[in-house]
Amino acid sequence: MRSDEMTDPVQLRGARPDDTEALLHLWTGLVTYHRTLERVRPSRWSGPVEETLRPLLAQVWAAPDRYALFIAEVAGDRIGFVRVSLADDGPCPARIDTLFVGGAFRGKRVGFRLLERACAWCRERDATEVCVEFIAPNDLAREFYEHAGFLPLLSTFMRRL
Ligand SMILES: CC(C)(COP(=O)(O)OP(=O)(O)OC[C@H]1O[C@@H](n2cnc3c(N)ncnc32)[C@H](O)[C@@H]1OP(=O)(O)O)[C@@H](O)C(=O)NCCC(=O)NCCS
Repeated sequence: MRSDEMTDPVQLRGARPDDTEALLHLWTGLVTYHRTLERVRPSRWSGPVEETLRPLLAQVWAAPDRYALFIAEVAGDRIGFVRVSLADDGPCPARIDTLFVGGAFRGKRVGFRLLERACAWCRERDATEVCVEFIAPNDLAREFYEHAGFLPLLSTFMRRL
């Protein structure tokens, strides 16, 4: 064990392409969690989970100037991640795309540290505001982001045609 791991068992680092399978596993956990909460699922979110997520990871590896993904690890196990991007569209120049901490590790400030790492990445790229979206019934996320200083901006509604 490295000396920094002895003082802090949770280590943050930038993700690499060889993290793809572990990230897909964690991210699938997040989607599964969302599916227990959701009241509506748009058809674009209804396909096989891995088919939707794999291109989102490929985007990060292909354009590291626009996207970043940070992983939280404990003793080599990936326990959480955040994906962040710069955005030409939408209200903010930067976006937290996804943030996830595995159930057993919640409430230990891992989410906060991942969020701060993502925000630092945005600031380093001169972004002065950052947005995040999450599904409406996700009260845990709402409380977490409000606690972290985010304020509600938009509400998205959908209707089937
Ligand atoms: C939301 C999530 C990332 C939070 O991660 P976490 O590691 O449990 O949160 P932390 O321990 O870092 O909490 C940071 C701070 O927020 C507070 N907090 C966290 N969740 C909270 C909640 N539901 N209500 C009130 N405060 C909360 C903590 O008390 C802590 O406060 P402190 O800074 O005063 O100590 C995690 O619960 C998760 O992965 N949820 C499922 C996925 C998800 O919904 N992601 C968001 C969609 S993008």
